Amino acid sequence: MDNILVTGAAGYIGSAFCLEGIERGYKIFGVDNFSNSSVEVVDFLSSSFPDNFNFIKSDLCEKEAFQREFFSKMKIDYVVHFAGFKSVIESQNNPSLYWDNNVSSTKNLTDFILEKDIKGLLFSSSASVYGDCDIQPVNEKTPLKPMSTYGATKKENELILKDLADSHNLKSISLRYFNPVGSVKNLPKCKPRQDSKNLMDNIVDVCTGQTKNLTIFGDDYSTSDGTAERDYIHIEDLVYAHFEALDYFNHINGFDVFNIGTGKSVSVKQIVKTFKESNEVDFAVEISKRREGDVPICYADANKAKKLLNWETKKSLREMCIDAWSSYK
Ligand code: UD1
Repeated sequence: MDNILVTGAAGYIGSAFCLEGIERGYKIFGVDNFSNSSVEVVDFLSSSFPDNFNFIKSDLCEKEAFQREFFSKMKIDYVVHFAGFKSVIESQNNPSLYWDNNVSSTKNLTDFILEKDIKGLLFSSSASVYGDCDIQPVNEKTPLKPMSTYGATKKENELILKDLADSHNLKSISLRYFNPVGSVKNLPKCKPRQDSKNLMDNIVDVCTGQTKNLTIFGDDYSTSDGTAERDYIHIEDLVYAHFEALDYFNHINGFDVFNIGTGKSVSVKQIVKTFKESNEVDFAVEISKRREGDVPICYADANKAKKLLNWETKKSLREMCIDAWSSYK
């Protein structure tokens, strides 16, 4: 079976991918520097699957150490590159940190990969590359106008990969994730840093009593109920898309890109209502002004992935809410 090098293997999406990959029979080599993840999930995977999961703590930005330690003698069939900082707010406060970390790490990784004969590299991109678009849903041809440094670094990484596909025949696929939520059964929870918390993390925080109420950032948008709308996708559905994309490397020669979302637009108020009803919990909500940098609405046209990857989402919003809460309650 094929070997997969997974960067960011201890993170929320990376660890879920590793577990699914192991269950599908792949051998996984994980790398993480634990900058936004914890060791528990790695301990769990290492002890549960000693033959199929190898891990090394390493920083992709430290090129020499990283290569020396991990890559030199390894056979790698695919690379799945999740590693990267993911806080929009932090990226605005410290742009150079994001350019250094998120882009330099990709350059170091690809420098190494070019010396290897790999079948393909999957890159974890983000809907944040689209920015504020009047025409919704967005498809892969929608012009990219990222509004944050975080989104700009994702766009830059896609450009690097496209360039390397054209110049060096490095096959790569970029998956533009919309808003991943929920959890994977049996996997230790990856606790996000405070400034990386998304809407669902903040709902969980209020339910566990860590915060007094959930703040809704703005109810004066031109949307169905005035609150901002996004395309929330269950982490399991999102992870499955990666395996369809790995198969798709047999059909491409260069670079390709796919939206990974449900194609449904859901408001903040709808999430709050569904979370409360499906989990039979209640919590206080306050409305504040809009959060700087938020777009009113962003959801996916996911037809390209449906057609070419033969992939579509199955989990409902209700299941996302139940699974987000189940690992805490
Ligand atoms: C998220 C990710 C970003 C990713 C993008 C697209 C975070 C912090 N950001 O951004 O990395 O690239 O999806 O995949 O995870 N909201 C509230 N109250 C809260 C939190 C959020 O009202 O306490 C609202 C926001 O204003 C927004 C919506 O909920 O309208 C979703 O916010 P969030 O979960 O932070 O995701 P995005 O900003 O869409």
